[in-house]
Amino acid sequence: MRPFIYQTHPQRIVFRAGALATLGAEADTLHARKLLVLCTPQQRDLAERAAEVLGARCAGIFDGAVMHVPVEQARLARARASELGADAVVAIGGGSTIGLGKAIALESDLPIVAVPTTYAGSEMTPIYGLTEGGLKRTGRDARVLPRTVVYDPDLTLGLPVAMSVTSGINAIAHAAEGLYAGDRTPVSDWMCREGIAALGRALPVIATAGGERDSAELRAARGDALYGAWLCGAVLGSATVGLHHKLCHTLGGSYNLPHAETHTIVLPHALAYNAPAAPQAMAAIAAALGRPHASGPQAVFDLAASLGAAVALRDIGMREEDLDRACELALQAQYPNPRPLAHREVRQLLDDAFHGQRPG
Ligand SMILES: NC(=O)c1ccc[n+]([C@@H]2O[C@H](COP(=O)([O-])OP(=O)(O)OC[C@H]3O[C@@H](n4cnc5c(N)ncnc54)[C@H](O)[C@@H]3O)[C@@H](O)[C@H]2O)c1
Repeated sequence: MRPFIYQTHPQRIVFRAGALATLGAEADTLHARKLLVLCTPQQRDLAERAAEVLGARCAGIFDGAVMHVPVEQARLARARASELGADAVVAIGGGSTIGLGKAIALESDLPIVAVPTTYAGSEMTPIYGLTEGGLKRTGRDARVLPRTVVYDPDLTLGLPVAMSVTSGINAIAHAAEGLYAGDRTPVSDWMCREGIAALGRALPVIATAGGERDSAELRAARGDALYGAWLCGAVLGSATVGLHHKLCHTLGGSYNLPHAETHTIVLPHALAYNAPAAPQAMAAIAAALGRPHASGPQAVFDLAASLGAAVALRDIGMREEDLDRACELALQAQYPNPRPLAHREVRQLLDDAFHGQRPG
């Protein structure tokens, strides 16, 4: 048995279809009396449903969450929370909304109740990000970890298929890197395999259902996908990440590429880079995806391609002339990685991802 340190985070997780209805009771558990509900402009209706469930406990709604948490939005949201005398925030939405909740908690210590509606996993991590002057800085702080997470698969029934697929593969990326993290444990290894398998089963069902919103099979798949996202997010919150996340932070932060799509495209290539140094992780990924005879990187690439996701960076706005600079940036302030980073090979990786080459 490898030696390990297992550090858990104090969080309460409520998981069930219809769990949004328990929001008031969850606020009471935290002794919160005045909650500010956060959302994106697109999810205002959902925030109003949350406000209705909270009743008199709702202090107001702030619908200004946007991708990558610009400091200007964080300041506005903090000011709103303090004007209203909020004693907690409810962040209902994807990683961007939960990120805004974290920006408030970072300076005010207000507890966060997260109600995730994508598979990004931010609700399970003490990691925050703030963007100022085009630069995104991230950090870890126990104050930003949501105290309560309410997982309600019903809230994901309307998540468009394309976003479901890329967000699901974004979650798989957390677990895939968790399988070769230096600080992994037997428990996190299990969570990685279970999380990848749940998403690997659910995403094809969700993609096949297309726009259909209600069948027992689809509801079961939405439940499985969110369960997988929980496990993968928990791994992101406890294990270190490597080359894949570094590349995605670089491409997202410096070239403004969309978060989940970038993860989906880069993952097979980052895994192929690390495969010689982490063969057991690759075998575990392929087995969890039900492809024990394929390689891990190919199993991930085939999953994305078969579900209609973009597989080439050139198709999501990356410019070929920026690849050299992206490579330089990715090699700076490196994250721990099982295989040392070599300039020529990382540049080749970016080229393969740019053209959407299936990993060999
Ligand atoms: N700190 C962390 O640990 C962590 C982890 C993962 C992601 N993130 C951050 O989260 C952001 C990305 O989050 P994301 O991928 O969830 O996207 P997002 O939160 O930006 O959401 C994208 C869009 O989808 C909409 N949406 C969300 N759920 C929906 C639903 N169920 N139905 C219909 N529309 C819905 C949103 O309103 C938004 O318009 C990035 O900024 C990333 O850096 C942070």
